[in-house]
Order: sequence, then structure tokens, then C-alpha cells
Amino acid sequence: MNPKNVVLGVSGGIAVYKALDVVSRLKKKGFNVDVIMTKSAEEFVTPLSFQSLSGNQVITNMFDEPKAFEIQHISLAKKADLMLIVPATANIIGKVASGIADDMLSTTIMAAFGRCPVVFAPAMNTNMYKNPILQDNIKKLIKYGYKFIEPSSGRLACGDTGEGKLQDTELIAEMVESMLYDKKDLAGKKVLVTAGPTIAPIDPVRFITNRSTGKMGYAIAKEARDRGAEVTLISGPSNIKAPFGVDFIKVSTNEEMLKQVLDRYDTSDIVIKSAAVADYKPKTYSDLKIKKSEENLNIEFVKDNDILKKLGEIKKSQILVGFAAESNDLIENAKGKLARKNLDYIVANDITSSDTGFASDENKVFILSKDNSILELNKMSKTDVARELFDLINR
Ligand code: CTP
Repeated sequence: MNPKNVVLGVSGGIAVYKALDVVSRLKKKGFNVDVIMTKSAEEFVTPLSFQSLSGNQVITNMFDEPKAFEIQHISLAKKADLMLIVPATANIIGKVASGIADDMLSTTIMAAFGRCPVVFAPAMNTNMYKNPILQDNIKKLIKYGYKFIEPSSGRLACGDTGEGKLQDTELIAEMVESMLYDKKDLAGKKVLVTAGPTIAPIDPVRFITNRSTGKMGYAIAKEARDRGAEVTLISGPSNIKAPFGVDFIKVSTNEEMLKQVLDRYDTSDIVIKSAAVADYKPKTYSDLKIKKSEENLNIEFVKDNDILKKLGEIKKSQILVGFAAESNDLIENAKGKLARKNLDYIVANDITSSDTGFASDENKVFILSKDNSILELNKMSKTDVARELFDLINR
């Protein structure tokens, strides 16, 4: 498959150096990147840096002898699957909002709009960002259909603190990837995903939990979002950043997860329970810290809710997907859970292998369907497992 083309416009602000990282991240995600720099951008970083990272000639001057293209701003605009402006200064936003096209970047933006998404990632001083003229320009462009990746807040190069910091470069690259995702086959669907472990508190300082990191569930939520679904991700404690564009709900115990899931169950089309829910909790919770007095400490545990089983019992038209983490008799145990919990699919993984399953970036799974078919997948990234799962559900 030919790679998708991102045309990256770089306008002149101190965040230009971060645009280099955006190029590198887009390249790693498999995109072809052509860079256009404004005159002011060249004051911060040389075109050679962008050329080295993109592997393509950088376009700076509108009146250069055409090298790679015939009429460069038109052919680049035609070639672009998406145009991204990083950093977008108040100046380039103002020019585009006013219909000014007087250099390579502004002419290409004008020629690209309507053919492909044009996305601005602004970065500037807080006061400039809050300036009502700039804010009006942004509103005007959004009304026309231009897209914006909002800046974040923090300490800015000028020493001020506030809004105006270029958004995280990985987030920018992820947003581009999401916009360019071809399959939108979950558009209009509501997908509910649970991820991570739950914890069972023992006293104010102690709890028990398990080794789940949430990687698989977060990958599923992102895949569903990229395919156009309205996604809710209910997550137990995890170090992974909440994905953009999903309704994110943090929980810690089995009870909290159950409540949040039940609140949304009836209105969901697809429910995927990849969380590693604690099956037991201490019979009594100690309000005071348990002191070390005896030689042995015995804590009695009682069964907690089996959330997925409850969901299976009250299932209407939802597609219900569970996970089975097994250390032995993988298929047999997974088949049992599929039937007992009234599931449509179960993703079975063997947790004894050190390079798949908990905490790893890859997984080796079987997906069992209620019609008794079994799909065996090769070892692959958790993102690819998520893709295969939705492909199967859609088939
Ligand atoms: N699950 C759940 N509530 C629980 C335990 C599990 O909702 N208290 C869900 C998990 O999210 C997963 C599926 O049930 O989708 C299977 O989880 P797993 O831990 O493999 O199985 P258990 O049912 O807990 O059985 P066992 O621990 O005996 O293997």
C-alpha cells in the first residue's frame, strides 16, 4: 500500500524545533512527509534538518526553480492527504482567515482546503493566544471546516506560564493518524471498553491488585475511536495517558467499575471487558492501619462481583466480548467462560509467555466466537489485535 501523504507547514515560532519531532513521529507511523517552511521558520531551524528527517526536499521559496513538482503549491496540495501546520503562528492563522496567499505555505493551504483536512497546531505566547482577533480568526476557520489541535498550558519559552504551548508531539502525530484512518466502519456505534486492573483495599495504606497495565484495553479504545465509534473507556489504575477523543472514566475497585459499566450498558452497542477485575476482596476493610503484631497475618477474602457474568445475564442486543487470561488449558477454559458468561466473543491469551500478555506491547491470542469458530492470530502488537477483533466483529 502506498503511504499516505502529510504536507507539513512550518511557520516561524520557537516551537519549530518540536515540528522536527512531529516529522520523525509521522515517519515512524509510516507517512510520507513533505515540508514547507516559511521565511521566519528558517530563522529558527535550517531546512536541512527537516530534509534529513523527512527524506524529502524542503520547500521554502515559492519562486524557486521547480524541482520535484510542476507548480509546487498546486501539486503539493493535490498530493496531500492531510495538511498540518506545526507550529501555527498567529500570523499564518490570521493570513489564512483573511484569505491572504502570499508565500508557499499560505498558497498551498488555500489550494489544499476542500481537498483534504487542513489542521493547525498553534503555539505562541499566552497573551497572543488569548487575543480576541486571533480567537475570532480561529472560530472563523473552524466554521469553514479547518481543524485545530489545541495548545496545552505550561511554561512558555518567553517565561510566561499559561495556554499557548504546542500540544504534545506524540499526541499531534496520533491525531493525524486517527484522522487519516481509512476504516470508519464503527461510525454511529457506541463502544464501551474496560481496561487495567482493579484494586481491593485492605486498610488505608494497603490493597491487593494484579499485573494488568491496561495496554490491551487502551489499544482497543483507540482502535474503536479511529474507526469512528463513540467510545467510553472505564479504566482501573494505569500509567497510560488517557487517549484523546474518548470519554475516560477512572475507577479503582470492582464495585466502582461495576457501577460505571451498568450506567452505560443499555445504551452501548459493543462492550469489551478487557479489564483484569479482582475476583476477591478482603471480608472486612480495616479503617485503621493494620499493625504488625502477630507472626502471621491472615486476611479472609470473599468473592466480589463477576461484572462480565452480570452483563451476560442482562444482555439485550449488545455484542459482549470478554477476555480470558489463562495459564493452562487455554481453549477449554476460554470456551467455558464464553458459555458461562453468555458472551459473543472471547479473546483468550496464554499468560505464561513472558513476551506476550500482561505489560508487554504484543499479544498472542485466539478469538473464540459463540458459533464455536476459533480465530488463531499470530503474535502481533496489541493495536493489531484490536484491529483483528473489530474486523471479526464487523464480519
Ligand atoms: N471479569 C469480570 N469480573 C470479574 C472477573 C472477571 O468482569 N470479577 C471479566 C474480565 O474482564 C474478563 C473475563 O471476565 O473479560 C474473564 O476474566 P478472567 O480473569 O480470565 O476469568 P475469571 O472469570 O475471573 O475466572 P478465573 O479467574 O477462574 O480464570
